[in-house]
Formats: sequence, structure tokens, C-alpha cells
Amino acid sequence: MIEFRNVKKIYTGGINTIALDEISFVIEKEEFVSLVGHSGAGKSTLLKLLYAEEKPTSGEIFFNGEDISNLTPKQLPFYRRRIGTVFQDFKLLPRKTLFENVAFALEVSDHSDKEINELVPQILEIVGLAHKLDSYPREISGGEQQRVAIARALVHRPPLIIADEPTGNLDPISSWGIIQLLLKINKLGTTILLATHNKDIVNRVKKRVITLDQGKIIRDHSKGRYAI
Ligand SMILES: Nc1ncnc2c1ncn2[C@@H]1O[C@H](COP(=O)(O)OP(=O)(O)OP(=O)(O)O)[C@@H](O)[C@H]1O
Ligand SMILES: [Mg+2]
Repeated sequence: MIEFRNVKKIYTGGINTIALDEISFVIEKEEFVSLVGHSGAGKSTLLKLLYAEEKPTSGEIFFNGEDISNLTPKQLPFYRRRIGTVFQDFKLLPRKTLFENVAFALEVSDHSDKEINELVPQILEIVGLAHKLDSYPREISGGEQQRVAIARALVHRPPLIIADEPTGNLDPISSWGIIQLLLKINKLGTTILLATHNKDIVNRVKKRVITLDQGKIIRDHSKGRYAI
């Protein structure tokens, strides 16, 4: 599903930083992959390249066989609709209810009210929040807010979810709840790529672990452990 072929990313500016240094890997459909490494190792850069937020300096990136390193501005939104994104900060709209936060992601893509009224509760059900449709973000916990962010990422039924440190702002119990939710979504058929520092989580998940160090892949183990 995803292939990075000799991908190099150099950030130019004041000083040149080699964020990714000729990395190659393949992720198959329906895998659950954790991406680990010290701060600055290149995890977020890798996710940004995949989301086409940044372009590789050299090398190629394929998504379902299509080279995405040079998408036109017109192609970009269609490509991105195939990827759900989850971040450390939940980025919910504070003046909208949970229903409206999820519906908003659908409204911008031309769904009828009828479709929205059917779909949004279904998606909130998947993340376990169907009973809090009318609550506002400030009225729910951080873990619940992250669940709403995940619901929002799911609205287009993307084949891939990328999550950059999604548990960074959560306590251990809520964090594990979020990971269990990602595992459940993975079981339902969605590929998951999770960048995290959280050792306990990575070791409990017992799935593939790719370890980055200074822009290079230094380890890639199925049923891996967090070992750096
Ligand atoms: N926009 C940018 N401009 C210049 N340098 C950047 C930029 N973004 C990241 N870098 C540099 O690229 C390298 C990789 O950064 P990246 O954010 O990918 O690391 P990371 O593994 O996600 O780290 P963290 O665990 O702290 O989130 C770092 O040296 C960082 O300083
Ligand atoms: Mg990062």
C-alpha cells in the first residue's frame, strides 16, 4: 500500500538538516505499524511526506502504486481524503458540539443533511461516544476529545490513518484506550501508522515497529519492541 524508495528529506534554510536519509520500506494494506525514535529522528517528517505536506528532496513515495511525491494542487485534496490524520492536540472546534465537529468534516465535502444525520452517529458509535453527541469539547475528557478527533479522521472511511503522537497529552489509561481504539479500527480493515514515544504502548501492542535514528531506519521488526 505504501512504499518509500530511497527517500531523502533535507530541510533547507539557515542550516541544512537531513531529516530523512535514503529510507526505504513497504507497508502492506491492513498493517498496524508503530514508528519510534528519539526526538528529531524524523518521524513527523516521514508522516508529512506521506501526507504530501512536504516533498522529498529525492526518492519516491508510492501510495497504492501511485507516485505521490509530485501531486498537483488539484490532485492534493483527493489524495488526502484517503488518509485520516490524528495529532497530539485534538484540534476540535470549541464552539461546535461533538456531532457538529464530526459533521463539519463531511459538510465541506458536499454530503446531504440526510447522509450526515445517518453517518455522524454511526461514526461516533465506533469511537464509543454516540451518547455524547450534543456535548461540547470542553465538557469531555482529553481521551474523549481524542476519540472525537479519531471519529473525524474516519468520516471519509480512509484506508489509512496516520497518527502523530496521539497519546502525547493523555494519561496512561486514556492513552491505552486510544490505542485500543486504533487497534479496533485496524481490525475493521484500516491500515494504521502510529508515531510515538510511548514505550509501554509499543510493547503492549506487539505489532510491527520501525525505529528511526537520525533520519535512518535502524530497526524494522514485526512484533517489535521499543528498543533505543
Ligand atoms: N520545517 C522544518 N524546517 C527545518 N528543520 C526541520 C523542520 N521540521 C523538522 N525539522 C528538523 O528535522 C529533523 C526531524 O524532525 P521531525 O520533526 O521529523 O522529528 P520527530 O522524530 O518527529 O521528533 P519528535 O519526537 O520531537 O516529534 C529535526 O532535526 C528537526 O529539527
Ligand atoms: Mg514529531
